[in-house]
Amino acid sequence: MVEKINQLMAEVKAFDSKNPAEIEEFRIKVLGKKGELNRLMEEFKAVPAEQKREMGQKINQLKNLAQERIATLKAEAEAGAADAASLIGDMTRPGSAEQLGSRHPISLVRNQICDIFSRLGYTIADGPEIEDDWHVFSSLNFPMEHPARDMQDTFFIEKNSDEPNQKDVLLRTHTSSIQVRTMEHQRPPIRVVCPGRVFRNEAISYRAHCIFHQVEGLYIDKGVSFADLKQSILYFAKEMFGENATIRMRPSYFPFTEPSAEVDVSCNLCGGKGCNVCKGTGWLEIMGCGMVDPNVLKASGIDPEEYSGFAFGMGVERIAMLKYGVKDLRLYFENDVRFLRQFDSAL
Ligand code: DAH
Repeated sequence: MVEKINQLMAEVKAFDSKNPAEIEEFRIKVLGKKGELNRLMEEFKAVPAEQKREMGQKINQLKNLAQERIATLKAEAEAGAADAASLIGDMTRPGSAEQLGSRHPISLVRNQICDIFSRLGYTIADGPEIEDDWHVFSSLNFPMEHPARDMQDTFFIEKNSDEPNQKDVLLRTHTSSIQVRTMEHQRPPIRVVCPGRVFRNEAISYRAHCIFHQVEGLYIDKGVSFADLKQSILYFAKEMFGENATIRMRPSYFPFTEPSAEVDVSCNLCGGKGCNVCKGTGWLEIMGCGMVDPNVLKASGIDPEEYSGFAFGMGVERIAMLKYGVKDLRLYFENDVRFLRQFDSAL
């Protein structure tokens, strides 16, 4: 009988299967009503009393071993089946939702600006980020001693001497360079918006960055007046900030426009009453603009006696900041998905 028990133990230990039907068959063979274990129990009755204790223990060991082994194999078989199912896939199960990316708020606002002006008949113009002094400064009527030409503001790639030189190679500091390039290649009427990245040698803080985005606008034709400029900007402000938006213009100075103005839009947060965003004034500065200086037209071969025009330029980060209430400009550059996902539903 001991031999029989040992043999069964070895059999149980050696048994291995991933097939649930096979495992069940083995269970019935060993532990079933008419199985090996019960047969041993029958034989056990005839065991002499002095051997009963030892034999009983052995049979119990066998029973425990068999139960454990079968439970383990069953669990493994089930896990295996689940794995296989997930590998093959349940063909009737609905597909898992893909997480869509979202557009960057700067792209959203840039596209919106371009869309608004395209409804007024503007097309998009592009230009290089690596520019020369002529297109960024000289052709735009910047005096030689203008501080923007300074190393402090401009990233130079190739500087020919200490003095400004029209051949100096630099990163453009504004998108106004694209209006010059457009005038070089197009004859009036010209109506373009020029979106792009610009670079300035500034210390990075919550309100300044060395890389940012601008959209420049240019309209040249016969008889273009300041009234046309004002009306176009008002239309833009209402489209961008809502029907109730109003604008005001403050006299200003830019080398490439005369007269020049800075444009404020009524604060859309407090409705003009004054709050901490508009610093109590009820107005938010959104862009610079003006009538294109005759010198600029001349520099690009357009006759200022025949044509006039206006130009404007705005910072995309600034508009996005006002539209979405973002207080720290650096957030636009960090690409933190928790920030970016907030714009998921924006167009
Ligand atoms: N280029 C100017 C800047 O970077 C913005 C600007 C002001 C553009 C007035 C214009 C303009 O076209 O007329 O600050």
